Amino acid sequence: MDEEHNTSSGYSIDYGNSSSVSLKTRPTRTTLTTEQQVFFDDVMIGLQQTPKTLPCKYFYDDKGSQLFEAICELDEYYVTRTELALLNQIKEELSSLIGPESSIIEPGAGAGIKIQTLLKALDAPNNYVPMDISSDFLFYSAQIIQKRFPDIEVFPIQGDFTQPVEWVGTKQSGKSIVFFPGSTIGNFEPDQAIDFLKNMAALIGDNGALIVGVDLMKDANILEAAYDDKQGITAQFNKNLLTRINLQLNGKFNLDKFTHKALVNFEKQRVEMHLVSQVEQQVSINGQTIHFQCGESVHTENSHKYTEQSFVEIAKKAGLQRKKTWVDENGLFSIHYLTLA
Ligand code: AVI
Repeated sequence: MDEEHNTSSGYSIDYGNSSSVSLKTRPTRTTLTTEQQVFFDDVMIGLQQTPKTLPCKYFYDDKGSQLFEAICELDEYYVTRTELALLNQIKEELSSLIGPESSIIEPGAGAGIKIQTLLKALDAPNNYVPMDISSDFLFYSAQIIQKRFPDIEVFPIQGDFTQPVEWVGTKQSGKSIVFFPGSTIGNFEPDQAIDFLKNMAALIGDNGALIVGVDLMKDANILEAAYDDKQGITAQFNKNLLTRINLQLNGKFNLDKFTHKALVNFEKQRVEMHLVSQVEQQVSINGQTIHFQCGESVHTENSHKYTEQSFVEIAKKAGLQRKKTWVDENGLFSIHYLTLA
């Protein structure tokens, strides 16, 4: 079994069953900030479960957000270009459904490419509220959008959009719109997706709407290629979670001892990403030791795929009704316009 070794600079050794431990061999433990402590607790809960899991929301530190943007450019990752092309086709129709002076909130805004297509098409929107967990990326792209659209007020909010969200400091005269593209809804478990949609429904009020991009179920070969690309960018994205644990939580993962795996789970209608331990090993994270069997997997992400109808059912459970759904000509991706039922 692989174990970590003592170094002169750090003592990252498993306590094992021994009751007397030399100070030299004690695992390093550093004081964590409140934010790091929350991350640490989530990591520990996930890695102490069987099977092991890690929450996919932690993919998106600055490096992870950059890797995700690189994924969006890949030939194999049809999701982004298909949605963007569809959005371009329907933007005038969306604009007339939305009307003038709208307020747009975008949870998980990322690089903000798609919103620019929508903002350009809209009739004098009032304000745009991008929201993201990764602050540098958020404020940088918010600045770019503000420069390109000087008549719109841009209010970036750094935060976790899986928690309840409120409008802050925004003038609302037209419709309140939640824009949630990219099939990020697919990264929630179906029950969480319903809760999230309920939270969003509370933001739009009687007159507003939700615009949601939803990836559709399709052949395994297309999905496997999209989540395990030839250049290995998705593998880097997945492994970046371990790098982040190493950097922020005093983790000792050796990335070479884990491999990226993507598989299609038809029963659950989703693509799963895993990190598979290549050896039996112990890894310390801020002084706590986690044991991995050879071949043991850490389940890092689910990307649920829907049919047009199965998504409408989810929306209904959140108190929303479908006004319109658009699907691209190859049946890969859908955009839904939902209002309160
Ligand atoms: C952000 N989300 C919709 C992406 C997806 O397709 O589930 C994240 C991703 N994971 C691997 N590739 C892209």
